[in-house]
Amino acid sequence: MPASHPAHVDPAKIPAHVAIIMDGNGRWARQRGLPRIEGHRRGVETVREIVDAARELGVRYLTLYAFSVENWQRPADEVGALMSLLEIFLKREVKNLIKNRVRLRTIGRTHELPGPVQTQLQRALDATAHFTDYTLALALNYGSRTEIVDAARAYAAAVAAGREKLNDSSWATFSRYLYTADLPDPDLVIRTSGETRVSNFLLLQAAYAEFLFIPVLWPDFTKAHLAEAIATFARRERRFGLTGEQLKPTVPPAK
Ligand code: FPP
Repeated sequence: MPASHPAHVDPAKIPAHVAIIMDGNGRWARQRGLPRIEGHRRGVETVREIVDAARELGVRYLTLYAFSVENWQRPADEVGALMSLLEIFLKREVKNLIKNRVRLRTIGRTHELPGPVQTQLQRALDATAHFTDYTLALALNYGSRTEIVDAARAYAAAVAAGREKLNDSSWATFSRYLYTADLPDPDLVIRTSGETRVSNFLLLQAAYAEFLFIPVLWPDFTKAHLAEAIATFARRERRFGLTGEQLKPTVPPAK
């Protein structure tokens, strides 16, 4: 069956949360002799397509790495262009998000984004906060190490204020201070463009995630590629530190 029709995937094996490192916009543009920003522009089209595709394929949470804390170091015109693409995306897309009942969330230090981006972001967040079926989380000014520092600081403040007890510290209590407090851990992390790096993305949350590095530049990534990635994920055995035998049902499934 073609990958764009993943009806053959057991619904129980569809990853609830897919997180994507969208890489390769610059190379896509260079291959065509275009400025890098054209790659990002085309990348936004892919974002639109994949937000819908993931929902149609049964994914409940989609996290997209749109701007990292390190990305500020790119040339100022590229940073400016990415910010204005983001602003336009949020402004234009809010209608579709509402129509498709998509809840928007962000992870990252969004308070450091330019004012006009924050304004559009807040509008979109407010207009979609009540949806529950499908969540799009945009990682904006995000970095795992920054997130851990922010969480440690907030946790220390909570301990100092008596809201948390240091002796009761556990992953369950500490993880509530991460940006992702109300998001499940990603089941599948995809990086496009063929690079095999994690680049400071969801380092703690992806502790048990499956990783797929797909040699397709982000502007060329389609619903069919996502469907194929989901089918590959469904064939993998996730053990969470247990043995394969422990995971096998002791009673054979009814015929
Ligand atoms: C990586 O490609 C991509 C980025 C750093 C930015 C991703 C942003 C978008 C797809 C558009 C804005 C997002 C939204 C949600 C509207 P690269 O530039 O590192 O590519 P290269 O490695 O080929 O140079």
